[in-house]
Amino acid sequence: MPRSDGTQSRFPFLLNIIMSKQSEKIQELIAKRAEARLGGGEKAIEKQHQRGKYTARERIAQLLDEGSFEELDMFVTHRCTNFGQDKKHILGDGVVTGFGTIEGRLVYVFAQDFTVFGGSLSETMALKICKVMDMAMKMGAPVIGLNDSGGARIQEGINALAGYSEIFQRNILASGVVPQISAILGPCAGGAVYSPALTDFTIMVKGISYMFLTGPSVVKTVTGEDVTQEQLGGASVHASKSGVTHFACEDGEEALMLIRKLISYIPQNNLEETPLVDCDDPIDRLEDDLNEIIPDSPKRSYDMYDVIGKIIDNGEFLEVQPDYAKNIITGFARFNGQAVGVVANQPKVLAGVLDSNASRKGARFVRFCDAFNIPLVTLVDVPGFLPGTGQEYNGVILHGAKLLYAYGEATVPKVTVTLRKSYGGSHIVMSCKQLRGDVNYAWPTAEIAVMGAEGAVGVLYAKEAKNHENPAKYLQEKQDEYTNLFANPYNAAKYGYIDDVIEPRNTRFRIIRALQMLATKKVQNPPKKHGNIPL
Ligand code: HXC
Repeated sequence: MPRSDGTQSRFPFLLNIIMSKQSEKIQELIAKRAEARLGGGEKAIEKQHQRGKYTARERIAQLLDEGSFEELDMFVTHRCTNFGQDKKHILGDGVVTGFGTIEGRLVYVFAQDFTVFGGSLSETMALKICKVMDMAMKMGAPVIGLNDSGGARIQEGINALAGYSEIFQRNILASGVVPQISAILGPCAGGAVYSPALTDFTIMVKGISYMFLTGPSVVKTVTGEDVTQEQLGGASVHASKSGVTHFACEDGEEALMLIRKLISYIPQNNLEETPLVDCDDPIDRLEDDLNEIIPDSPKRSYDMYDVIGKIIDNGEFLEVQPDYAKNIITGFARFNGQAVGVVANQPKVLAGVLDSNASRKGARFVRFCDAFNIPLVTLVDVPGFLPGTGQEYNGVILHGAKLLYAYGEATVPKVTVTLRKSYGGSHIVMSCKQLRGDVNYAWPTAEIAVMGAEGAVGVLYAKEAKNHENPAKYLQEKQDEYTNLFANPYNAAKYGYIDDVIEPRNTRFRIIRALQMLATKKVQNPPKKHGNIPL
């Protein structure tokens, strides 16, 4: 063989032997890689496809930028010898882990491989997952978990449980440091549900994924109740009734595309901010319709989505928990290319009243945004808290306090616009000035008061009205007096609790200006181990 200097080696035969040994090793590597990539084998892959599911590697390929995935620990195998497991080793052992990019930004991924022992969690699988979680913490990048698993690897007993515990501990320590997103793309049962529950966002697929602590057969034995997996813990149930999942998608592909979109609104970690994107939507766009949107009658509603759609960049809104507690709207949007979290009462549902579920939903979203430096834009039209034993027995005091706590604790820029009603405790909870609202605007239609006119007059003048010759007329006069005095924004503006009364059609521009002004905001809460939010 010629050398680089053009001379020939004196031992060409030796080099040939070395080369062939090397190429043999390379062939071995290629074969091992091919074997690992097959996971549980072709039959199991076929079965996975028949279930309407993609394999772990197919999912990762859809999730990440093309060709960006770097796999780790492909040759890891389990260490269990019980129940004949010593004769069944599959390269990679039930989870595919590594890193890659989404729109060029680093993310860490683990995808449970249902074709290998049903994706059940072994000791070594847990080690693989923990490795990428540790790397994500070191490098400050999101962790995305694609879950599809039969739970703890039964043959491994306590080692599988220890593995779960290691993952949960990391979920807890990573909370508020790097974003954590869980997609449930198959079964997720028993204690396994706690890892997704500890992460920031959970995404499920209708008809494919389910989450429950105990399955239908245990439920039947213990309570006698007959339920299907779908009824007990399907995507629709968790999206609308329990609030366990933030998104319910039609199929696995939609779930993965949603993760890509979600990632675009959030920063890499708690020390960074979401990158600005180019904005081609004019910042001073006037929306004349907004000057007409509030109905004359306070009892009539309008759709808060119409307001949100008109003021944000290009009407693009990624709603979080759209099917749960619809009386409050939470989601991500952009103003002049800057990502924000939007929280808004929805007058179309329960008149926009706050209840236990709406408070919990809002509080969790506000805390996520605050943990990850995402400014908050709050749109207020709230008549109060929902009254009644149902709510009180359910602990609405504590749940409402969660939202109050979340807003009061938040140090990100907070811009609040009161569109119409803002009464009593709910006025305070919805990011009022004294909860360190930075810029609080109101539309001329705003009514900022202790309570609505009818209720207030009922309390103050019920006795007098009884003795009056025309009680209805008397109460109406008192209501008009109350309305003139309090059902407007100027009373609050008089005290500086409202910074300005703005023309509705100019809301987009005013919010953008406020956010620009707040870009350098620095506020710190007093040092403490951690607060004691009313859980
Ligand atoms: C070992 C498992 C397994 C498990 C499934 N498999 N779950 N192996 N440990 N937990 C294996 C099956 O034996 C099968 O192997 C293969 O995975 C595919 O499973 P199937 O049953 O053929 O698939 P399917 O019909 O789709 O049913 C999926 C399933 C079912 C509903 C998830 O497998 C199931 O009920 N599994 C057990 C669930 C469970 O009880 N897990 C433990 C929960 S307790 P072969 O070789 O036949 O292909 C728990 C505690 C965690 O997780 C606590 C953490 C704190």
